[in-house]
Parts: sequence; structure tokens; C-alpha cells
Amino acid sequence: MPQPLVFKCPSCNETLLKEQRTYRCLNNHTFDEAKEGYVNLLLAQHKKSKNPGDNDEMIKSRQAFLNKGYYASLSSQIVKIISSMENGFKQNILDVGCGEGYYMDKIKKASTDDNLFLCGIDISKTAIKLAGKRKMDSLLSVASAYDLPFFSNRFDTIISVFSPVSASEIARLLKSENSQIIMVGPAEEHLKALTKHIYDEVLPHKGNYSVLDDKKAFILEEQIEIKEEITVKKEDILDLLRMTPYYWQTTVEIKKKILALSELKTTIHFYVRVYRKV
Ligand SMILES: C[S@@+](CC[C@H](N)C(=O)[O-])C[C@H]1O[C@@H](n2cnc3c(N)ncnc32)[C@H](O)[C@@H]1O
Ligand SMILES: [Zn+2]
Repeated sequence: MPQPLVFKCPSCNETLLKEQRTYRCLNNHTFDEAKEGYVNLLLAQHKKSKNPGDNDEMIKSRQAFLNKGYYASLSSQIVKIISSMENGFKQNILDVGCGEGYYMDKIKKASTDDNLFLCGIDISKTAIKLAGKRKMDSLLSVASAYDLPFFSNRFDTIISVFSPVSASEIARLLKSENSQIIMVGPAEEHLKALTKHIYDEVLPHKGNYSVLDDKKAFILEEQIEIKEEITVKKEDILDLLRMTPYYWQTTVEIKKKILALSELKTTIHFYVRVYRKV
């Protein structure tokens, strides 16, 4: 029997029920829904900093850049993997570290199934607020990937695009049959033309796959490589730079040099890995 998607109280692990705009558990812990339609379930004592996660400029720039469609090949691939599941879009899907919701939005728009239930969590309030503004009719919460506010065995698909994950939390939340995690990370040549301006020698980013590869709970079913040349327009170069850690690690001179380019032709290169829960 499929079980409904509800939030779990971060204080006592009981079910949170929604009454008007307040989530309440039987121990009377309450969490108000924000006007954008998300709930903050990250307890103050679990916050390592005042504003954890990506900073606001990174998030806003990522949204502006993604909305231009530069990573459309990646979002289409994610949608394709989901739609080819046995139940199509009739699924409970969780996007861990969903950011401002670009990939969730693409899934929602591609689905014609009323039985698609989408959830997204991110540790950044700004990110979740922007995801809420996308009005995807989804369950959104500020929460940590290491302590997910859901009951066990609830999801058919979990997605992680360039975000941290906990293998034990993923294994706990995925249903025991026909469930999958789609994990996306950078491949060797990702944004090569950008990084060559910044570093003499670029060490390829390894992605987060080892978190799952090391665990017996998952089998790697498929790895899809996406490699494409994109031309970033002059007016979008700053957003691309700001959405990456590079902006925050490089000098003013290098930034000026990159921003003076009339356009930036670069490779985008991803691995999309699909793991099944065993
Ligand atoms: C590189 S961004 C990717 C966002 C989104 N998946 C995308 O591709 O557009 C990484 C995201 O992970 C979030 N994040 C970082 N640490 C986290 C944690 N411990 N729990 C949940 N989210 C986290 C950040 O706030 C950020 O939104
Ligand atoms: Zn409670």
C-alpha cells in the first residue's frame, strides 16, 4: 500500500499534520508554513551557521543561468530516466539539495500524471523560498540532507544534482522495490573553458558518487555521460561564474578578464548515475 507523504517532526519524529498553515505533531511542536509554501524544519541547534548552504548570490545566479536553458540536456535526461520507470510519473520523488527547484519544475511540467508527488529539501532558506515561488504543488522544506524529515520507505526516486547526500538516509527513504537514486555530478571536462582562466592545472571534480559506491545498499545500474559545447552569452557569464565556487575563490583581476569576454564557449560535462536500492 503506498503511504502518504507527510513530514516527520524534527523534534520528536512524530507525524506533522497540517492545520491551515501550521504543521503540528501530537507533542505540540509547531512549524508555520511560509507564504511561499515551504516549511522550515531545520532546528536552530542543527544549524552550523546562520545561513547554511549556498549563499544567496550563488542561488539567484544559478536560477538565472539555469532558466536560460544552458543545462537543458541534463534536465531532459533526468526527466527521461524518471518517465521510463515502470510507473512513469506515478511516483513519489524527492530532490535532495533541490536548490531553487529547476529540476523539480522540469519534472512537474513533463508529467501528465496526477499521482506524481514531488518533494524538495535544501538547507538554504533562500533556495527553498525560490523553489516555492515556482508553484509546483510540491512539499518543500528547509532541512538537512543528513536528517531528512520523512518516514522510511516512501520514495520511488530520489534525485541529487551536485548536492550532498547521506547514503543511510537515502537507503532509509527509498522504497524497498523498484526504487532508484539519480545522482548527477561533474565529469572531467565540465566548464573547462571557464576553469582554464582560473587555475593553471585543473583537478577534475570527483562528484559525490563514492558516498553510494561504498555502500552495499545500492547497485550502480547505469551511467550516462552528457558532454556538450555551449556558448554562454556575455550577459550570462557573471551568473555562471557566481553559481560556481570559482567566483568565490578567484581574484578580482581574473574575474574582470572573464567578464570582459564577448561570449564563453565551453564544454559542459556530467555523469548521470542511476543506482537501485538492493
Ligand atoms: C550546487 S547546489 C545544487 C542545487 C540544485 N540541485 C541544482 O543543481 O540546481 C548544492 C545545493 O545543496 C545545498 N546544500 C548544501 N549542503 C546541504 C545539506 N547539508 N543539506 C541539504 N542541502 C544542502 C545548497 O544549499 C545548494 O542549494
Ligand atoms: Zn514533535
